[in-house]
Amino acid sequence: MFKFGLVSPEIWGVRSLSRPKGCNDCHFYGRIRRGGEIMLKNKQVGFLGSGNMGEALVHGLLHGHLCRPEQIVCSDVRPDRLKAIREQYGVRTTSHNPEVVKQSDIIVLAVKPQIMKQVVEEVSKHLDLTKLIISIAAGVPLDAIESCARKELKLIRVMPNICVSVLEGVSGIAGGRHASKEDLMMAKTIFDSVGKSVIIEEYLLDAVTGLSGSGPAYIFLIIDALADAGVKVGLSRTDSLVLASQTVLGAAKMLIETGEHPGKLKDMVTSPGGTAIAGLHTLEQGGVRTTLINAVEVATERAKYLGEMMKNNLTNDR
Ligand SMILES: NC(=O)c1ccc[n+]([C@@H]2O[C@H](COP(=O)([O-])OP(=O)(O)OC[C@H]3O[C@@H](n4cnc5c(N)ncnc54)[C@H](OP(=O)(O)O)[C@@H]3O)[C@@H](O)[C@H]2O)c1
Repeated sequence: MFKFGLVSPEIWGVRSLSRPKGCNDCHFYGRIRRGGEIMLKNKQVGFLGSGNMGEALVHGLLHGHLCRPEQIVCSDVRPDRLKAIREQYGVRTTSHNPEVVKQSDIIVLAVKPQIMKQVVEEVSKHLDLTKLIISIAAGVPLDAIESCARKELKLIRVMPNICVSVLEGVSGIAGGRHASKEDLMMAKTIFDSVGKSVIIEEYLLDAVTGLSGSGPAYIFLIIDALADAGVKVGLSRTDSLVLASQTVLGAAKMLIETGEHPGKLKDMVTSPGGTAIAGLHTLEQGGVRTTLINAVEVATERAKYLGEMMKNNLTNDR
């Protein structure tokens, strides 16, 4: 497991809120950032749990100039984490979860799903409908959180992915029954600071888990396989990894920046009787499309199943 405090922010790649190279709509990116600054200007943001995800979000908010350090308070059970976060980002820290809730307008629940119940019960008496609560706990439904708190809450559930650690994550955001459009935009502002996001219905978060939540694992495997292939055809392991990973990054960036359909870009690099079409034919023979569709489908089903189990665990003693 990695902890971000050990990594200098300067080496963390590009931010999606800065205008991408080649993007003509610079006003659009400027507007998001200015809008986000205004939205969060007078808000206090608290994090319950300051591990990988909590720290990535703190980094994103500060790096995107959406918050000042004094607007952020973080809690954790590990004093070493709190020290590292405090020293790295200049935010306030405490080991007392209720303190975070009392001091915050927006509370991000960033603890592991299995301790969510304990944490929500601990802070419940300080929660009310004036506070926006954003849970990123995988598989924990919004109604299970309300059930643990024993009250109605203004909740938003988000499924990010691990790439938030390099500010290139992608998140699915779903609002609960008391979350307004403005609350959703607030959550979007926060998660856009560590990549991109889509607003969807809660039931689709399992699909997000199957696609982009689990997706980095698929891509790491694909890059590993491409690097193996490079070694097979005579390249060094190091060179193969550079060639494979930069090819994935470059292709994704080109797709996003041109806005073209992936099929059109594939056709652009496929000349008659050439190398790419020979390789593509082999990929199709191997069933690469079907395999990827099956992988996302089975991961979605698995997320659904684990979510049901989680819900039963969180609510079975009610
Ligand atoms: N990592 C991902 O790729 C990813 C993707 C999507 C969603 N998520 C969700 O994001 C949440 C956080 O994940 P993470 O990877 O950031 O986990 P993490 O690195 O383990 O961070 C959670 C932190 O909370 C601390 N903690 C434990 N009990 C606590 C308590 N009672 N009060 C306050 N803090 C407490 C943990 O300390 P200890 O280590 O001592 O327990 C840890 O430092 C999880 O619910 C996960 O499902 C993660």
